[in-house]
Amino acid sequence: MYKTAVITLSDRAYSGEYEDVSGKILRSMLPEGFEVTEYIVLPDCYERLKNELIRLCDNGSCTLILTTGGTGLAPGDITPEATMAAAERNVPGIAEALRAGSMKYTKKAMLSRGVSVIRKNTLIINLPGSPKAVRESMEIISDVLLHAADILSGIKADG
Ligand code: MTE
Repeated sequence: MYKTAVITLSDRAYSGEYEDVSGKILRSMLPEGFEVTEYIVLPDCYERLKNELIRLCDNGSCTLILTTGGTGLAPGDITPEATMAAAERNVPGIAEALRAGSMKYTKKAMLSRGVSVIRKNTLIINLPGSPKAVRESMEIISDVLLHAADILSGIKADG
């Protein structure tokens, strides 16, 4: 089983004003072969997200990190910047597929600035924040996650 961290970025979920519906959906939609071992709700705070990502990747505690929220154009949306600050290698195709595949649901998909990157042996993927967007995004990427994790962890050769 590949260990997975789910991180929700939302000031309102963090303060308890909202229930974290998106994080729960994300947990429930993980494909076979993955288990959630860390579930974290953070405010939209660049330093806190960056430090959390670095900690999770550098102590080898998970192969996959899925974030939800904070990818849009609002001044407080810092998820892509914090993720890039933790990144060692870019994996642009996943973010590209998310945006392209989401266009059939809503043209606003082009407003998500989410990125997908690697630090050490961990793949980090930013998803948008709404429950609907999380559901649609997981449908787009879940088939490929196991293959990505196998390659990243050296279980499979590329191809
Ligand atoms: N992607 C999918 N699949 N479905 C959606 O409903 N919403 C979009 C976009 N991506 C959406 C989506 C909207 S309205 C916004 S503003 C951006 O994601 C950023 O969302 P975030 O700031 O909650 O991360």
